[in-house]
Amino acid sequence: MNREEIERAQSEAQAEIGAAADLAALEAVRLRYLGRKGLLPQWMPRLKDAPPAERPELGRRLNALKDAVQEALDRRRTELERRADAGPKEPFDATLPGEWRGIGAAHPISRIIERATEIFRTLGFTVADGPDIETVFHNFDALNTPEDHPSRDPGDTFYLDNGDLLRCQTSPVQVRYMQAHPPPVRIIAPGRCYRRDTPDATHSANFHQIEGLYVDRAVSLADLKGDLTYFARRLFGPGVRIRFRPHFFPFTEPSVEVDASCHVCGGKGCRVCKHSGWIEIAGAGMVHPNVFRAVGYDRHEVVGYAFGMGVERIAMILFGVPDIRLLYENDLRYLTQFGPGV
Ligand code: DAH
Repeated sequence: MNREEIERAQSEAQAEIGAAADLAALEAVRLRYLGRKGLLPQWMPRLKDAPPAERPELGRRLNALKDAVQEALDRRRTELERRADAGPKEPFDATLPGEWRGIGAAHPISRIIERATEIFRTLGFTVADGPDIETVFHNFDALNTPEDHPSRDPGDTFYLDNGDLLRCQTSPVQVRYMQAHPPPVRIIAPGRCYRRDTPDATHSANFHQIEGLYVDRAVSLADLKGDLTYFARRLFGPGVRIRFRPHFFPFTEPSVEVDASCHVCGGKGCRVCKHSGWIEIAGAGMVHPNVFRAVGYDRHEVVGYAFGMGVERIAMILFGVPDIRLLYENDLRYLTQFGPGV
């Protein structure tokens, strides 16, 4: 080890450091010079073999070499790290397929609820909510349901051990809302319902309804028809008509089932409407006086209409879903085809 060797080592080290293309290569250079078995740790002990007159000078040069190598290493490391952060590690190939990021899509059920909410909002309705676990009073008694009505049967409705139940309709929200608010009332209540139905293409033990309730001094069946016509036209298309068929519900009198003319064939008959030209969209009627009595409203002061519609049914009709189970199997290939937005 002499002056020339030290100088050569310095310029070689500097060249190698400059040529190190990545952090691993740089580490290899560091080990070669400063590592435990590197050049400098080998040279240092040999200082004592040098002639005494040259020792201080050589010592200074060795230290200077060590510092210079360390400094060059640090500088190069910073440079390489910055470069790794800045650009892509590999050349960018714009022709490769993109990575699937799993962008979410609104579920068809959510879409119908959001669209219906938006439409009824323009008619002055606000959104109300109620619990999935209900009392017998709210789900049946206050809704004027006779003691022997089949829907009360444990074979039809899920009861809890404490006597409460999983609501089989959104109608109990009417009761809760009227108990808590004086008239007038104009609400819709979307939510889950539960029934002991055997699942098939059109039945699910868990499904959704949208309840509607409009109570004021002067509300008539004509208001119901007008509002549901507006709703159906906004949802299905401008040419759609509405018809009422007489029906029975315990909580309304008179009661009707509501059909919309088929938006696909315009009423001529097609597969979607099962060749009838009409599609059932809701049950409805004028609120029964006994319901007003149960919630503490004066039945001589107020009148009202109510309706309840099945969300799955409407989603299936509007989006052409052939089997209700497709809405619940959570197969993203199916669910995302309706697009990301509402
Ligand atoms: N609750 C009824 C059902 O589940 C639907 C319904 C019919 C709701 C008439 C109403 C109504 O509010 O007035 O079948």
